[in-house]
Amino acid sequence: VVSQAVVVSGASKAEQLAGLRSQAENWAPAQSLGTLREKMVFATGSPDAEIMLVGEAPGYNEEKEGEPFVGPAGQKLTGILKAMGVDRGDVYISNLVKFRPAMPRQTTNNRKPTPEEMAACLPLVLAEISVVQPKIIIALGGTTAEGLIGLEGAFGSMREKWHEVAGTPARVTYHPSYLLQTGGSNQVKRSLWEDMLAAMQKLGMPISDKQKSYFLPKP
Ligand code: URA
Repeated sequence: VVSQAVVVSGASKAEQLAGLRSQAENWAPAQSLGTLREKMVFATGSPDAEIMLVGEAPGYNEEKEGEPFVGPAGQKLTGILKAMGVDRGDVYISNLVKFRPAMPRQTTNNRKPTPEEMAACLPLVLAEISVVQPKIIIALGGTTAEGLIGLEGAFGSMREKWHEVAGTPARVTYHPSYLLQTGGSNQVKRSLWEDMLAAMQKLGMPISDKQKSYFLPKP
């Protein structure tokens, strides 16, 4: 395994992130695996964000646009943020793995990153956390929770509690693509929403009665 150290330099957060972006472009630990595609997809959003959301890896749409979470799962995510009263540009959205995992005869199909691919890219996202210094991190899906937080076991056991990544409180929720796969069952929507309510509460954000009741069964 090829290792490489991340260097954080620059006067502002934006400059430091730009530096990380260019190191990610030529990230030898990832490229040397030979299992990831070439195009690098970094992050989007505010360097001053209080909320950082982390996904597993870019897919077809993200590789095409060069931006995380722009496909159907990304639109879901944008909608969830809107329900929280948060703009996509106010948060920091990144992926653990910066390259789309490769597959034979690949067209629009995507696969989850492997533990090796996640380990290879982990120093980059940890450096992003140290630059942005979000108040909370939201790990999207079980694969991300394994790679980013080092959790193991059933997905259900990862949720509903605060973990820590580099000293920052981290919460695990469903990957937004799971909402699409399950055809948007209200129970899953409510569970994801309860994770977001917990995040809002942790940040001291105002929560309206209407927001409290989203996706509850109708009486
Ligand atoms: N799924 C992810 O985990 N990340 C993206 O950027 C898009 C879909």
